[in-house]
Amino acid sequence: MYHGLLVPPFKIIGRQSWVASQKFGIQDNGLLTFDFELPWVVKPVAEGSSIGVSIVKEKTSVRAALDQVFTLSDKAVVEKYIEGKEVQVGILNDTVLGAVEVRPKLEFYTYEAKYTAGLTEYILPPEIEPPTLEKAGAAALLAHRVLGCKGATRVDLIIDRDGKSFVLEVNTLPGMTETSLLPKIARLSGLDFPSLIEAILEESIMEGRRG
Ligand SMILES: Nc1ncnc2c1ncn2[C@@H]1O[C@H](COP(=O)(O)OP(=O)(O)O)[C@@H](O)[C@H]1O
Ligand SMILES: [Mg+2]
Repeated sequence: MYHGLLVPPFKIIGRQSWVASQKFGIQDNGLLTFDFELPWVVKPVAEGSSIGVSIVKEKTSVRAALDQVFTLSDKAVVEKYIEGKEVQVGILNDTVLGAVEVRPKLEFYTYEAKYTAGLTEYILPPEIEPPTLEKAGAAALLAHRVLGCKGATRVDLIIDRDGKSFVLEVNTLPGMTETSLLPKIARLSGLDFPSLIEAILEESIMEGRRG
């Protein structure tokens, strides 16, 4: 729990400690001991578009996943895989615009699933019980606020079997083409693309004036 938000249990591994443990052949210095069960998701601390993200189902595969991450980033996150529905919430100027459920046809919402037409089904609005979806929206807005975000963000979450929302990340520069998810969510809430852009600009001008 961070700021009252649920995130998947995680551990951060730095490249240097990883390289050192490899070099000296330390088999188990605790680096690959986690207090949560498999499967795990291994990802770089930064990046996006699912680049460098992999799902690890057996402990022996974690090394290859970490090696891949360290070609992209100095720090890797190993976190618990949360099974459930993947939902993305659009936030604009401190309000929840709406949400979309993403149903990738591949193992998860990979780079390929994100950018190849037909590889992901988008359910807009999501077919999720309204109280559960409302809680996901509230969690997304709280994540946006505690990170000090302004303007438009898109928050990625997984809603598990019990209806609990786990925040995966806050996208501070969400895709902004007319077919991107946030503009699609905005359209459903009555804001067409030009109005969305105008709302973002107006708020940032006001923010600038407030100093
Ligand atoms: N803890 C997790 N449990 C289940 N799936 C996950 C988890 N973390 C990431 N994923 C999957 O990997 C995708 C990319 O992860 P994310 O953390 O959003 O990184 P990116 O910044 O690359 O989008 C998610 O959209 C989701 O499909
Ligand atoms: Mg994401």
